[in-house]
Amino acid sequence: MSAYQSNNPDIPAPGRVLVSAEDLAKRVTVLGREITADYAGRSPLLVGVLKGAFMFMSDLARAIDLPVELDFMAVSSYGHSTRSSGVVRIVKDLDLDLAGRDVIIVEDIVDSGLTLSYLRKNLLARNPASLEVCALLVHNDHQLDESILRYEGFRIPPEFVVGYGLDVAQHYRNLSDIRVIETETDE
Ligand code: IMP
Ligand code: MG
Repeated sequence: MSAYQSNNPDIPAPGRVLVSAEDLAKRVTVLGREITADYAGRSPLLVGVLKGAFMFMSDLARAIDLPVELDFMAVSSYGHSTRSSGVVRIVKDLDLDLAGRDVIIVEDIVDSGLTLSYLRKNLLARNPASLEVCALLVHNDHQLDESILRYEGFRIPPEFVVGYGLDVAQHYRNLSDIRVIETETDE
C-alpha cells in the first residue's frame, strides 16, 4: 500500500501522476504574473470555491504581487458524487460585499461547467465591477463557453483526478501532484 492510499478499501487508490508538483508550481507562478499585470493598480478579490480550490488559492495568492483580498464560499452539487448535476446549493456564503469589486473566482476544476455558470450568475447579481474566472484544471471533453474562462492552468483529458485540493470522497486532497483515479466507474 502506498503511503498515500486510504485505509478504507472502498476508496480507490490514486494512480499515475497527470500533473507534477513542479509543473503545478510553474504554471501557478505564470498565472499569478498574468493576474498581477492585468490588475495593476487594483486590488482584486479572490473568491475561492471550497474545498477543492484551497491549495490552488493559497499558492495563487502568493504568486500575485498586488494587495489582494481573499474570501471563500462552499457549494455542494446535488446528485452523483463524481458528476455535477448543475443544481448547486451554497453551503457557505461569502463574508465580503462584492459591489464595485474586481472579483476573480478561483476554481479547482471545470468539468461540465454547470457549477461555474451557476456561480457566475449568482455573483454577478451582487454587482461586482468585474468578474473573471481562474480555474486550475479544465476537462477537455466538454463544449464550454470559452469566454467565461479568463485564466486556466491545464486542459486535461476526461479522467477523474485527485490531489492538490481535489478529492474523491474527501480523500487525497493533500497530495502535492494531480493524479488519476484509474478504477473510477460510472453508475
Ligand atoms: P462541473 O459543474 O461539471 O463543471 O463540475 C465541477 C465540480 O465537480 C468541481 O468543482 C469539482 O468539485 C468536481 N469535479 C469535477 N471533475 C472532478 C475530478 O476529476 N476530480 C475531482 N473533482 C471533480
Ligand atoms: Mg468543486
